[in-house]
Amino acid sequence: MARIVVVGSINMDLVTTVGHRPEPGQTVSGESFALVPGGKGSNQAIAAQRAGATVDFVGAVGSDVFADALRGVLHDAGVGVSRLRTANGPSGIATIVVDGDGENTIIVVAGANGRLTDLDTADLDAIASADILMCQLEIPIPTVLAAARHARAHHTTVILNPSPVQHLPADLWAEIDVAVVNEGEAEQLATPLAAVPHVITTLGAHGASYRGPDARLSHPGVPVEVVDTTGAGDTFTGALAAHWHQGPATALAWACTAGALATTKLGASASIPHRTDIEQALAAATAHWLGGMTADAGS
Ligand code: RIB
Repeated sequence: MARIVVVGSINMDLVTTVGHRPEPGQTVSGESFALVPGGKGSNQAIAAQRAGATVDFVGAVGSDVFADALRGVLHDAGVGVSRLRTANGPSGIATIVVDGDGENTIIVVAGANGRLTDLDTADLDAIASADILMCQLEIPIPTVLAAARHARAHHTTVILNPSPVQHLPADLWAEIDVAVVNEGEAEQLATPLAAVPHVITTLGAHGASYRGPDARLSHPGVPVEVVDTTGAGDTFTGALAAHWHQGPATALAWACTAGALATTKLGASASIPHRTDIEQALAAATAHWLGGMTADAGS
């Protein structure tokens, strides 16, 4: 079982569903509204824990009305929260609009995540004794760099999901073992990604690809009825991290399956599948693919 430390963000997602997004200056009627805990760091931590890893979360909630619910969603998922601090002021907030096709737009206000500026001795000890450090870019970049440097110095594998995409110092790229990007990020970050040993690119409904020192792999998409794609990339990344020790092919299969399942329900943390659901879907999808291969071979 992989031991993972996530140093990352946690947000309250304000999720509105609407048939069609408004044009600038237009007002439209929405269909529903929900408060759902999210944030790329928290989503990935929960996804990794549910996929079978043991996860500790280093992050910050605010001192506002959302703090208890945000702390609670990690705790209830079994993620370790002893390194989760409370910063004075608002928690991170994401305003999310999901349209009739399940596509989203997201505006994030960092809040407490922006005040995660220091890692203390206990944080660093947790990173040093973990198998994997997993980070994203919704907290201050110097904190990500400090965590990654410490991980590398202690032979902890560093997985970075460089999202929301932004320019990063070369020093940080030098510490990354595994990068998980979507197609847009892969294009924008092509130059620094070329020097990262393992790069996984998510391809939406078409699955994902892997490029490593010894192999290139791809995994097909898992067909599902899409309701909301919010957090699907986070679920993919968390499941990938949880199964990274089994090699890229197995990790990709878990990640593609978990990521697809995450699109079938509304809301980031609410849609992250449990291990048994992923195993069942993986078995069904494998049987489907094998059936297709047999039919192809016989025709
Ligand atoms: O990746 C999805 C997440 O991005 C949402 O949960 C939102 O909080 C933003 O961080």
